[in-house]
Amino acid sequence: MSNSENFVKELADKHGRSRESLMPILQEIIDVRRYVSDETMVNIAKELDLSAADVYGTASFYTFIETKEVGQFVIRLCKTIVCDMKGKDAIIHALEDTLKIKVGETTPDKRFTLLTTNCLGWCHKGPAMLINDDVYTELTPGRAIEIIESYMQK
Ligand code: FES
Repeated sequence: MSNSENFVKELADKHGRSRESLMPILQEIIDVRRYVSDETMVNIAKELDLSAADVYGTASFYTFIETKEVGQFVIRLCKTIVCDMKGKDAIIHALEDTLKIKVGETTPDKRFTLLTTNCLGWCHKGPAMLINDDVYTELTPGRAIEIIESYMQK
């Protein structure tokens, strides 16, 4: 049995095997592994007796559930209108220059993934971004670079 199969079995033992167990299982996988691989989704489908398409559909519906491998630190910069008007493009350029990757990519050392996301609910203090679960607001390009540099020391 693969690691993924064992892990999914453990989570199903803990959260149950009904349809309502799907979200808690996906959430815990994100907490532990940061993304849900195709193999893991197939294993969840088997364990919960759902179709793989059903599991994939649920996982891809939620923007916080990554289905591709991501880095240790996942940066999600808000791309929605208020942050857009408050200068999110300049922040993206600063992040891309600092990390030497484009939006949607992960650094070769697998430390950082740079993504954009919809409104984070911090519009009044935009531009805003999340790094894993931590929120950073009122960003300027300089401030964004400082924040990333502090993560580079971690
Ligand atoms: Fe960016 Fe709402 S528009 S946080």
